[in-house]
Amino acid sequence: MVMHKIKLAYQFRDGFRMHYKRPVYCTNLFFENSTRTKTSFEMAEAKLGLKILDFDVQHSSVSKGETLDDTLLTLQALGVDIAVVRHPQNKFYRSLNPDNSMGLINGGDGSGQHPSQTLLDMFTIYDEFQNFANLKILIAGDLIHSRVAHSNAKLLKKLGAQIFFSGPVEWYGSEFDQLGTYVDIDDVIDQVDVVMLLRIQTERFDASQNDLSVDQYLSKYGLTKQRAEKMKPTAIIMHPAPVNRGTEIEGELVESSASRIFQQMTNGVFMRMAIITDILRTKGLIESEEFNESAN
Ligand code: CP
Repeated sequence: MVMHKIKLAYQFRDGFRMHYKRPVYCTNLFFENSTRTKTSFEMAEAKLGLKILDFDVQHSSVSKGETLDDTLLTLQALGVDIAVVRHPQNKFYRSLNPDNSMGLINGGDGSGQHPSQTLLDMFTIYDEFQNFANLKILIAGDLIHSRVAHSNAKLLKKLGAQIFFSGPVEWYGSEFDQLGTYVDIDDVIDQVDVVMLLRIQTERFDASQNDLSVDQYLSKYGLTKQRAEKMKPTAIIMHPAPVNRGTEIEGELVESSASRIFQQMTNGVFMRMAIITDILRTKGLIESEEFNESAN
């Protein structure tokens, strides 16, 4: 599944294009704020030639108490083919009406999973190393609150990578025990191929976690220039962003030669085109597919 999606993302990067049997309608429902995922899906949808319907959660009938399920059933009744949903509730999709046949894409559920971010991260790692099985990957930071950490660690483990976790012990969860090894960042920084940093998710802190100070975070747990100098010459820096410069990572490392942070975002558009296309194929909505190198 992962390699199929990566190959399709490469095809879109090279100018692969779709033609549809009829106009295809999509919308993006973001119940949590987003810059990258929402805009990246919108860009992917635009590049695919879909009709994008604006859905503004703040001004929708969600404010009158309409449930997510009823909102999605309504959109299906209106003729929407695909909806991307980001929601603060973990596994929000489990409570939805199974009769809703609209294509549904998880744009991130609480601290649960972030599948499209994970696939674009796999695309970025594969593009760099052409394999996963021989790689050592450090996932560093606010692990328990991070849907990126949860979904990336699970998939990287399946793909055969060796995973290390680091960060404050208060932000480490037992669910990671079976996926990798909890370490001090300084013990592995010179050995790993990928340093995958995580944003500190203060919006998911409970009262006890509010006591954790982020003042010392960079020097204790983050990627300083001193630590970056110890990285292997071939190693790369990743971060799903938004980045707290000066907290998870020393500011200027974001644009350093080892950083793939902006490349991740660029890759995300092609991966999201691949994710949407697989749904359109399943729904039988594609008339024909062709290469058009001038399209990018
Ligand atoms: N990486 C990511 O999910 O960023 P946004 O919250 O801006 O979508």
